[in-house]
Amino acid sequence: MTRRKGIILAGGTGSRLWPITLGVSKQLLPVYDKPMVYYPLSALMLAGIREIAIITTPEDQVQFQRILGDGSQWGLAFTWIVQPKPEGLAQAYLLANDFLAGAPSAMVLGDNIFFGHGLPELMAAADARPAGGTVFGYRVADPERYGVVAFDKSGQVRSIVEKPENPASNYAVTGLYFLDGTAPDRARDVQPSARGELEIVSVLESYLADGALTVERMGRGYAWLDTGTHGSLLDAGNFVRTLQDRQGTQVGCPEEIAYTAGWIDAARLRAHAATYGKSRYGRYLTDLLREV
Ligand code: G1P
Repeated sequence: MTRRKGIILAGGTGSRLWPITLGVSKQLLPVYDKPMVYYPLSALMLAGIREIAIITTPEDQVQFQRILGDGSQWGLAFTWIVQPKPEGLAQAYLLANDFLAGAPSAMVLGDNIFFGHGLPELMAAADARPAGGTVFGYRVADPERYGVVAFDKSGQVRSIVEKPENPASNYAVTGLYFLDGTAPDRARDVQPSARGELEIVSVLESYLADGALTVERMGRGYAWLDTGTHGSLLDAGNFVRTLQDRQGTQVGCPEEIAYTAGWIDAARLRAHAATYGKSRYGRYLTDLLREV
């Protein structure tokens, strides 16, 4: 079992999705049939992580708690942390410092969706690196919207630049960061950027300067979807729907991951199935009891 602790960063104003996010947190919007946060949570669970801090705005915390509870229903333990003001992704490490207590972490952004057959293995390899950090580079058509990795001729990482006007490659850094226990100290040294934020890229630069950053490429067999625009939110929902309808599976189902990992027993899964009743989700959980 990993000692690594998880962080889900689900703060922010969601202003790029206004007006739908005026009344509800972005990370609770539906991605087809589930709240968005189910998907990044599932990613951490597939990495074998069970102690997870969830960072939200002060206003939205109650709603998140209503949906996610304390995690015990899935064999997890949640710690709730408030981000008073969104001052950059690196701030998460300052807010989670006590929770981490020196442990390595995997932070996932609450609006990032990962899908791929090899995902557990890819994350297990990152988890197994005792020191330093691992992030994932994913080829996108519009790298200027993200942190972008520049590689040299031999494929070594040269730099990572946040939202560059002239991207040095098509490889975006995804919102999944496996960092060692030094991340909060490194975050403390970060100065606010021109847009006034503590940039995650500055933390990654600190690892890079120490020769302690691995950038794993997530190949074309993976889907990394973000939900930063109305169109990409709809695309993510359609992607989930297409897979689920074709395969009769569920993407991002915490009950299934917990049951398969042995974190909850059949009686608990049966109780979840009963809660969801005759919905498709409920029927899926009932079927799992027969299949697994
Ligand atoms: C953030 C990070 C960026 C990363 C992206 C992934 O951008 O700053 O480096 O590539 O998440 O989703 P934001 O979504 O805050 O614009």
